[in-house]
Amino acid sequence: MPEPAPTPTTGPPSADGPARVVVLISGTGTLLQALLDACAGPGFGAQVVAVGSDRPGVAGLARAEAAGVPTFVHPLSPGADRAAWDAGLRDRVAAHAPDLVVSAGFMKLVGPAFLAAFGGRTLNTHPALLPAFPGMHGPRDALAHGVKVAGATVFLVDEGVDTGVILDQAAVRVHDDDTVASLHERIKVVERDLLVSTTHQLATRTWQVVDRKVRWDS
Ligand code: GAR
Repeated sequence: MPEPAPTPTTGPPSADGPARVVVLISGTGTLLQALLDACAGPGFGAQVVAVGSDRPGVAGLARAEAAGVPTFVHPLSPGADRAAWDAGLRDRVAAHAPDLVVSAGFMKLVGPAFLAAFGGRTLNTHPALLPAFPGMHGPRDALAHGVKVAGATVFLVDEGVDTGVILDQAAVRVHDDDTVASLHERIKVVERDLLVSTTHQLATRTWQVVDRKVRWDS
């Protein structure tokens, strides 16, 4: 079992070459696709070196394979030992020596073993303006509450449910005739841009986290 890496509070973690990014997904993978497309462009400063899923056969895995990116599946079976699953996920990710981990629609909470290795350099994206509407159903809960502005948040993963340091956010108007699906799709348009721009910033700039706020130093 690899030794846990120290948790950095500053970046970029690697000065040599593009930052190595492992992306975790559970489904369609449109966020992943946006990242793959961005990485293919010149000067992005990051490359996706592996894609992991907790679910086999999802469209996101096919997107990774089409891009020539190695994939792995790490399912959590009902009743399985959660700590063992978490340590296994850490090991599957560590095998690709990432500088950054991106949780892009990964519908599982990572645990202490994973965070000991990758805390402070794992970003997640959520389809709501955190701290409002955390959890599995951000757009549904925002719509049910009757908000007029919804949006997306990219943040650093910590031990809570969508409680980590906020890196960036983008808002969208809620329309009177929105359904959960239409609102989520409109959020995902801005969410993809947010994830791409934040990954680029983390990979190419110097940054630190002070009192829950990210400071971009260069
Ligand atoms: C995204 O909207 C992401 O924020 C959400 O799943 C979608 C994945 O879309 N994640 C969560 O709600 C996590 N709480 P994709 O599979 O098309 O990239």
